Formats: sequence, structure tokens, C-alpha cells
Amino acid sequence: MNTPTTATKRDLLSLLDLTTEEIHRLFARTGELKAALKAGQAVHTLSGRTLAMVFEKPSTRTRVSFETGMYQLGGHALFLSSKEMQLGRGEEISDSARVLSRYVNGIMVRTFAHENLLTMARYATVPVINGLSDDFHPCQILTDIFTFQEHRGPIAGRKVAWIGDGNNVAHSWILAAARLGFHLVLAVPPGFEPKAQVLERAKQEIATHDMASTITVLRNPQEAVAGADLVTTDAWTSMGQEKETKRRQKAFANYCVDQTLMGKAKADALFMHCLPAHRGEEVTSEVLDGPQSVVWDEAENRLHVQKAILEWLLA
Ligand code: CP
Ligand code: NVA
Repeated sequence: MNTPTTATKRDLLSLLDLTTEEIHRLFARTGELKAALKAGQAVHTLSGRTLAMVFEKPSTRTRVSFETGMYQLGGHALFLSSKEMQLGRGEEISDSARVLSRYVNGIMVRTFAHENLLTMARYATVPVINGLSDDFHPCQILTDIFTFQEHRGPIAGRKVAWIGDGNNVAHSWILAAARLGFHLVLAVPPGFEPKAQVLERAKQEIATHDMASTITVLRNPQEAVAGADLVTTDAWTSMGQEKETKRRQKAFANYCVDQTLMGKAKADALFMHCLPAHRGEEVTSEVLDGPQSVVWDEAENRLHVQKAILEWLLA
């Protein structure tokens, strides 16, 4: 049985699909689900429900955390590589969306163009979750903020420094700042700025909701990390950009998060990375494995945060 067609279905395509209040509720539920799991208490709120997971790009964390999360909630997840689907032979996304909606209760998609997700969501009659597109990675940033708050308390009013590429993960940090009232400073080399449209949209949201957030884009990593509560970075070459690897290695050479750079942040600053990391490129092993790094907690929390997302959308 699939969910009946509903005009009120919700999707999670970017962080703008959630209100500030909904993000706080999601985090509260994440805490409950995590505690229940650690205490060995079963929570089967998605019994009989199925999630289709469509992957056009590789994944370790997203695939395993969604699949395990569905299992732990009493449901089932289907791993679907787009190459093995008719989608990979040219079946329209709109047709695939309508067909999948007749079988499953939710669809998670990892894709290239964000437009693919918008099409999937437009034609699916069940919720669609963004498991990463070229533009956004909302589940990752919800997790990063949940992780920050577990270690340091509310993120509102804090300073977050992003070092490196103005990519999909950076875009989600930008939208998160608009919702959660923190100060985001991004240090990026020329030509690798976040999309102007994303910055513009975030600034509009900040103004509309009268948030005390600021978003600054600059060049100098030292300046970005000064007084930061959290330093974060990501791969210089994202999935799908492999042909640009050499050019990017050159452009980002001064954007490695090493111990000297971490030393310019607050003494108790945390380090995060969505992973996979490229040791010796965007981050040194000393930082990744060092005392300020919370990357393994961050990776674990994908499971707990996504369980709360799945309950919210599929229960
Ligand atoms: N951080 C993240 O999304 O990892 P995967 O690419 O392994 O899913
Ligand atoms: N920016 C990276 C994130 C990987 C989780 C990519 O898109 O490949």
C-alpha cells in the first residue's frame, strides 16, 4: 500500500523547506531517537513503510544511514542505482516519480542538477528528500548543526567559518544561517564563490524573518576563522567535477585547514567535515584526527537526524 495522493505532502529539497521552529522540533526528536537507540529501546514508527533511495552518485554515509534508519524505525529501504533503473536508460524523471509513488512512501534522491529533484518532487505524490544535489545537501547541514549543539549548545549567535569551495554543502550552510541566527563567514578563492542566487535568497529570508544572522564571503582563511566556534570544510573537487581536479588543487592550495589555521579560531572551536575527506588537501590528518575534530560524531548523527526527518515526512 502506498500513501494516498495528498496535496499536503512535504518535501525536504533545501533547508528553506523547514521553518526555524520545525528545525528545533526536528532536533528535539533527533535527541529522543538517539537516546532510545542507545538505551536499546525499539521505536517502530515507520512499520510497514518503504523508502526508495535513488542514487546517481556514489555514497557511503547517506546510503547506509538512510537504509539503517528505515530498518531501525520498522520500515524498509530500497537502494536503487539510477544506472540499474530505466531512469538510466532515459525514462523520464516525471514518469519514474509517478511510478515510484505507487509503491513506496518516500523517495530519497542523490542527483546532479538540483532541477532533477524539483521535477521528482513535482510529480511524486510522496515526500522527496534531497540526499545531495549539485546545489544543496540539507540532511548533512541539519546533522552538522545538531552535532555542534550536542557539543556546544545553541548555534544562534555563534561564528561558523567555512573554508574552501562555495559548493553544495556551503550553500546549505548559507540557508541554515538564514534559519538559525548564526554568523557564517566563507573564505573562498576567486571563481569558487557560492552562487549569488543562493546568497541573495538567504539574505531575503534573513530580512523577512528579522533574523540576527550574517553571511560574509571573503578570501582570507585566517580572517574567516578568527574567533570562530566552528571551522568546517569539504572536498575541493565534488562528485561530477573530477575533470577539474588539477585546476582546483591549484586554486585551493592556500585553503587547507591545518593546525596553524585551527589555532586562529577560538581555543574550544570544533572542526567538522561532511566526509569523505582528502587528507593533506582540504584538511590535514592532524586536524581530522585531532582533539577539536568531531567528524565521527558528525557522521554518526546522520543516522539520528535522518530518522527524525523520515518520521516527520513518512509517518
Ligand atoms: N557526507 C556524505 O553525504 O557522505 P556520502 O557521500 O558517503 O553519502
Ligand atoms: N561537496 C561534496 C560532498 C560530498 C558528501 C560533493 O558533492 O561531492
